Amino acid sequence: MNQKGINQRELADMIGKDETVISRWFAGKVGISRSSVELLEKALGEKLIKDKQHNMKKALITGVTGQDGSYLSEFLLEKGYEVHGVIRRNSSDHRERISHLEGTPHFHLHYGHMEDSMSLVKVVTMVRPDEIYNLAAQSHVQVSFDSPEFTADVDATGVLRVLEAVRAAGLENTCRIYQASTSELYGKVEEVPQNENTPFHPYSPYAVAKLYGYWIIREYREAYNMFCCSGILFNHESERRGETFVTRKITLAAARIAQGLQDCLYLGNLSSLRDWGYAKDYVECMWLILQNDKPEDFVIATGVQHSVREFAYYAFKHVGIELEFKGKGLDEIGVCVSDNRHSVHKKDTSLVGKALIKVSPDFYRPTDVVNLWGDPTKAKAKLGWNPNKTSFEELVKIMVDSDMAKVAGEGAAAKVRTNLAEYLEKGIVK
Ligand code: NAP
Ligand code: GDD
Repeated sequence: MNQKGINQRELADMIGKDETVISRWFAGKVGISRSSVELLEKALGEKLIKDKQHNMKKALITGVTGQDGSYLSEFLLEKGYEVHGVIRRNSSDHRERISHLEGTPHFHLHYGHMEDSMSLVKVVTMVRPDEIYNLAAQSHVQVSFDSPEFTADVDATGVLRVLEAVRAAGLENTCRIYQASTSELYGKVEEVPQNENTPFHPYSPYAVAKLYGYWIIREYREAYNMFCCSGILFNHESERRGETFVTRKITLAAARIAQGLQDCLYLGNLSSLRDWGYAKDYVECMWLILQNDKPEDFVIATGVQHSVREFAYYAFKHVGIELEFKGKGLDEIGVCVSDNRHSVHKKDTSLVGKALIKVSPDFYRPTDVVNLWGDPTKAKAKLGWNPNKTSFEELVKIMVDSDMAKVAGEGAAAKVRTNLAEYLEKGIVK
């Protein structure tokens, strides 16, 4: 019984849970949803909840403004965590993906940079997190060829700085750390499909930097007995994916071409193969990895592989444009063979016979990873994770539907977007 005379049984009924969940929540051992916290807040008043907040699990996310950071924040808030995100100062607003979370209870932002140990030590010492999700990175593989030193500083040394910040704060025995590792480590692949035992062969400055991150995590686990793990995640996409990654570039272009705002899409290697999953499903795995009994690394993938060409085919098909690919290498084109667009988008001209996809050498990489295909058996067995919650076809549909609505809704801004499309066509924005 608490000061308000309400017993735990009644509280449990209120949120539709077992009594043990309530007592474990009060002890800070499990999370409950935000809506449940709000119900309890109403019943118990602020003081008790404030006391409880001392027991709330705290997560710190670097890269909170990114695709994964935004989904992970939503996921952890829903689980009843207090979420702290590290953002860097920018001259323009980079917080689009988390703007809906700002101002909500239990969501806090702090300035910090992966190149600046002092800022990381300060944030970690102040927040004293139970879990850190290190997602911040220069994450674009092609850009890593243009900025290799910066990529190494953020993606390699940055991981070391996070680990040292945890030690400086005296949290090495309590704080669990997730490192956003990558299938790019397999690079010039030595085995297909790839699992936790497949040898690494990094094939870009990005991958080499991430390999350091992977090994320094293992080193701190072994040297200091810290609970730190790498999730070796294969490509995961969503409607929040950055616009210069190939899937989002394709879905945006399909939407613009369907709505008459772009003539042609220029791509690089159409034959490259990826194991594409849905980002929203993958953040659950990051959390599961840190709830495991012991610190281990996991491959997270769907186990299904498709080419860039296939992704484009399905994306265009979804907006009513059937493509046929002709030619080879730099001469390959994707020609419209049937135009079944919704009549509001059709205007007067049919696209049949037009080359809507062309290949540009601007999007070729000095070394390209072309055969990624993950084997998620270990994650399935040990974490109970379902790698096939969202199929490839559903993923394409989610992304295309979202971009169709975005492009249609942009109204006056659509003309500005056309300029960006032109840049993309000319290969200026990689
Ligand atoms: P993303 O959308 O590019 O987000 C990257 C995040 O890192 C952004 O919040 C960015 O902040 C932040 N960041 C970059 N440099 C920073 C710096 N110097 N200091 C502080 N913050 C910095 O990437 P994502 O797709 O969400 O991926 C998350 C992580 O998973 C990355 O480490 C990526 O390498 C890794 N990963 C991704 C995939 C995938 O398919 N998505 C697969 C395997 C691994 P701004 O918003 O200010 O730029
Ligand atoms: N970006 C881009 N633009 N890639 C293209 C294009 C194009 O116009 N045309 C073909 N591609 C090919 C690339 O050469 C590559 O083989 C493949 O499409 C996927 O490229 P991206 O979407 O840029 O992703 P990525 O696989 O290089 O990197 C992403 O996944 C990694 C996990 O495997 C990033 O999210 C990394 O941060 C992540 O580690």
